[in-house]
Amino acid sequence: MAAAMLTAVAPLAAAPDGGAASYRAYCATCHGANREGASGPALSGDGFVQRWRGRTPALHSLISNSMPYDAPATLTAAQYAAITRYILAQNAVKHPSSTIRSVEQTTSRAYRPPAPPSVPHVYGSASTASPDDNELLNSADDDWLRYNRDYLGQRHSPLTQITAQNVATLVPKCVFQTGEVGSFQASPVIRAGKMYFTTANNTYALDAATCHKLWKYEYPPVAAPLAVNRGVALYKGMLIRGTLDGHLIALDAENGNLLWDEWVADNRSGHFISAVPVVFGGKVFIGEAGADYGAAGHVHAFDALNGRHLWTFDAVPTGREGAPTSDKGQAVGGASTWTTITVEPATRRLYVPLGNPGLDFDGAARPGPNLYSDSIVVIDADTGKLEWYAQQNPHDVHDWDTAAAPVLYDLDQKRFMAVGSKDARLYLYDRDSHVLIARVNLTGRLNDTTPLSSAHGLHVCPGFLGGVEWNGPAYDPLDQMIFVNTVDWCGTFRRAKNAHENAQGGTGTTDPPSEARGWLRAFDAATGEQRWSYEAGTPMLAGITTTATGVLLTGTAQGDFLAFDARTGRKLYGFYTGGSIAAGPSIYLAGGREYVAVASGNSSKSLWQVDGASTLIVFGLP
Ligand code: HEC
Repeated sequence: MAAAMLTAVAPLAAAPDGGAASYRAYCATCHGANREGASGPALSGDGFVQRWRGRTPALHSLISNSMPYDAPATLTAAQYAAITRYILAQNAVKHPSSTIRSVEQTTSRAYRPPAPPSVPHVYGSASTASPDDNELLNSADDDWLRYNRDYLGQRHSPLTQITAQNVATLVPKCVFQTGEVGSFQASPVIRAGKMYFTTANNTYALDAATCHKLWKYEYPPVAAPLAVNRGVALYKGMLIRGTLDGHLIALDAENGNLLWDEWVADNRSGHFISAVPVVFGGKVFIGEAGADYGAAGHVHAFDALNGRHLWTFDAVPTGREGAPTSDKGQAVGGASTWTTITVEPATRRLYVPLGNPGLDFDGAARPGPNLYSDSIVVIDADTGKLEWYAQQNPHDVHDWDTAAAPVLYDLDQKRFMAVGSKDARLYLYDRDSHVLIARVNLTGRLNDTTPLSSAHGLHVCPGFLGGVEWNGPAYDPLDQMIFVNTVDWCGTFRRAKNAHENAQGGTGTTDPPSEARGWLRAFDAATGEQRWSYEAGTPMLAGITTTATGVLLTGTAQGDFLAFDARTGRKLYGFYTGGSIAAGPSIYLAGGREYVAVASGNSSKSLWQVDGASTLIVFGLP
């Protein structure tokens, strides 16, 4: 598509007409000759001006990084600046030219530590007061209050109306279309009959029984290397979420009004927030992503009522107290937070999954294990101090993040932690002794310990999009089993020829998408012994949900919403939703009836190469 529409993207000379010619050449096909909109939105009118007033650097950054839509970042910096000035001038928006210049100067990808979190802007207080700390600890059976439902990350619902006998009769009860194309990876949260979920920039509230929209909050679109958001945390009448430009914002759950806004991480250093925050004991916890673009990871705590900064944990060497040390000192980024954080309320500890080190594919500049990349770090929720950690991949060169939150469970007087990694392995640990109890391969392996070369590509399994992605293992206390979805997709890796080649230190490519497979596997939770498996001809990215009636629900990247008998693995139901499923199904009661909310339509042409537009589908019994 890019080739057909934009045959020539050779740099134009500096635009003599102030950007109009470049606009006509590269933007008008989709946004209209007079910016009135066509297949792309209008770049004129009140809505456009209101959205972008005072945000010139963000507008310039969005255009430079994500436009033209079908060939992002293919024009020169001068062309992007000229087009941005042209659009602003046509809309009569004042733009001190210094703001555009300052953005041009900050496109360097070199690692810089972020500025410390700012003083939050507080705009108002919530119009309601639930859920409070007690409700978060003892949530009603009817509700689904967090990304992974409970603090321990088990994703098990005590509801009983949907059973192994009747699950095959599920029908879609209502559908809500966001109208957005892009990622859709937020597990919906539901409280007292209302549902809340996010897309990369927007936040939605729906009636959980009818899908009718209650309100929508639009954050001005921000360009990010991976435009994704995984949802909201609920606390005392607020919804708290992260943004692609590194802010944490709180919205009034009643009406979507902005209540506070805290600047957490600097997106000019490659940081952005895709993870869903977690609230525990009055504090909200979040980490940033961006390790693949030079950013260094942290975990932060804020006062959940007003966004005031409380502590920061450095996830890579920074030279500050409490940070890990490395042979090369403060040299590299890494350790992104991608999804959510597991909490152990009894010990007031956070279990935070941290992603790959940067540069992704070149380990030469970062000798040693590169702590705390590819690890679970266990942090005291009150102080931010490290208690212990478990690293799954020391000195990773394959982008094998520990991306998903671990699941915690107690069995036979032992306290377990199960971790899924992008290295396509499941790890079981003892939370008391910290000993690794089992390490299980979830897909085949090829060349996984062969050093990468800069001269030629090496075919490796799993590839950089393989293994356990952002949704980790789930635990079923009834049968004492754990379940995990996996992507089975090999790829080719090459180390960079020199340090300046790119921000990843080399290249990783995937095999053709037609070769990608997926697995759902079930294990004995005490031993890691496999009980059953299901092979899908497509990646399995979704979260897994089990119920008190022995039903297991999940979905595939091709768009099938699936139900299984959790104990035997027998497939009980499948419904093709038309769009990739990449969040976990959420189960709840509304008006006394049990429903399942499924986020369908995670579309991403570049990474997962799947179709659809983000659509929320609610299933129920006839
Ligand atoms: C192939 C079609 C296409 C081309 C070419 C294209 N865009 Fe876009 N643009 C889109 C689409 C589609 C969206 C909406 C994206 C979304 O909602 O995620 C968009 C969104 C935008 C937005 C955000 C609008 C808002 O207010 O939310 C801006 C600004 C923008 N484009 C500017 C440009 C500029 C400048 C160019 C030329 C350099 C360009 N686009 C080229 C399709 C295109």
